[in-house]
Amino acid sequence: MRTIAIVNQKGGCGKTTVSINLASSLAVKGKRTLLVDMDPQSHSAVGLAVPEDQIELAIYDSLLSASRKEKIDLSEILWQISDNFELAPSNIDLAAFEQQMAGVVGRENCLKDVLSTVSDHYDYCIIDCPPSVGLLTFNAIRSSQDVIVPVETGYFSLHGLSKQLETLKVLSDQCEQPINVMVLASMYDVRTKMSREILAELRKHFGSRMFQTVINFNTKLKEAASLGQPITEYEPSSKGSKDFLSLADELISTDTLTHRKEMVSSLSRQLESISNNARGILEETSPSRQLTQENLKEETTEKILDKVENEIEQYYGVRQHGSVISFTTLYPNANKVQIAGDFNHWQPENTIMEKINSYGAWQVKLNLAPGKYRYRLVVDGKWQQDPYNENVEQNPYGDYNSLLTVGQV
Ligand SMILES: Nc1ncnc2c1ncn2[C@@H]1O[C@H](COP(=O)(O)OP(=O)(O)O)[C@@H](O)[C@H]1O
Ligand SMILES: [Mg+2]
Repeated sequence: MRTIAIVNQKGGCGKTTVSINLASSLAVKGKRTLLVDMDPQSHSAVGLAVPEDQIELAIYDSLLSASRKEKIDLSEILWQISDNFELAPSNIDLAAFEQQMAGVVGRENCLKDVLSTVSDHYDYCIIDCPPSVGLLTFNAIRSSQDVIVPVETGYFSLHGLSKQLETLKVLSDQCEQPINVMVLASMYDVRTKMSREILAELRKHFGSRMFQTVINFNTKLKEAASLGQPITEYEPSSKGSKDFLSLADELISTDTLTHRKEMVSSLSRQLESISNNARGILEETSPSRQLTQENLKEETTEKILDKVENEIEQYYGVRQHGSVISFTTLYPNANKVQIAGDFNHWQPENTIMEKINSYGAWQVKLNLAPGKYRYRLVVDGKWQQDPYNENVEQNPYGDYNSLLTVGQV
């Protein structure tokens, strides 16, 4: 059994999406696959439509069974998802694991011991890790031959990455087994210059430590998760499904590598130059170039990234200022961006967004009465959901409408 931990202490970088869809893609390719959820938030169960209220025994119970002397076999907690694909779900109990195990000898090997009982039953075990680097993640790494670090190719990726790799190095220094660490570019949006530059930068620095496969940003992946299906079932012909099948192929092709080296230390040596490059990239592509050269010199990269993060949050999406609602979005290559919604009788010609800077940000301000509205963006004639608005609802055409609530002034 080849065990692969999906690790990144940053939340929202795609760990669970990678875990679920890589596992299902391996299963589709005939590999017997076990997915272990080590995140107390149990998103893997949610994303695979396993009803949380019916999870009576979870990975926490298996992990603790040795120290409690009450034997709970891993098989007792498993849920079959599809052919060749089983899930060991988590539940909120797992949040107490670290505390429960304080001072217990061998607490970092609980998962390894549990998995050793099923190593003949599976070809692959994928471990979805929590967004932290405590005992749970350490258990996952101790059990694994491979670690995959998904890296969002957005503004904040390098920020998360350098922290992550430093911690990984510390953890792996304490591991007895060699670990093969690979970086996976995720949520890649080829349309943005920023994504393209970050990908090029990552490739330059990580070379063969990076998967050739890139996971594109694909709204079908989000939809699949919200409907509790892996992408290979929900929309097998989608870009998302093709990306994950290709990732599975890439992994399978390295099954027989006889010498997987411990690469973590060489990765961490590259950190400094990556952080320096991050500065350059961010400065180049920041939507509001308020970060002057002087500021940059005085501040740490981390601070700059935090600042950019805040700026972006305040920048794109829908904002209410009194009774005025501003819609702002980013489409560098678009010629025309419009909005169609129930506030303009779904007529895109009525609401045309204006290109407001050379980076390709588009904006329109509307006066809307308090209430709830649905809308979609129309980009060069193509209707789509607003990528900067998390609130959506499915429409009768199988697509998603973005939702907006205008409050009382
Ligand atoms: N490649 C992708 N394309 C589109 N949406 C994605 C992609 N990867 C992840 N997402 C979405 O981003 C959000 C965070 O992803 P998730 O996998 O839960 O991250 P994590 O487990 O690291 O917190 C989810 O809503 C998920 O559906
Ligand atoms: Mg997750």
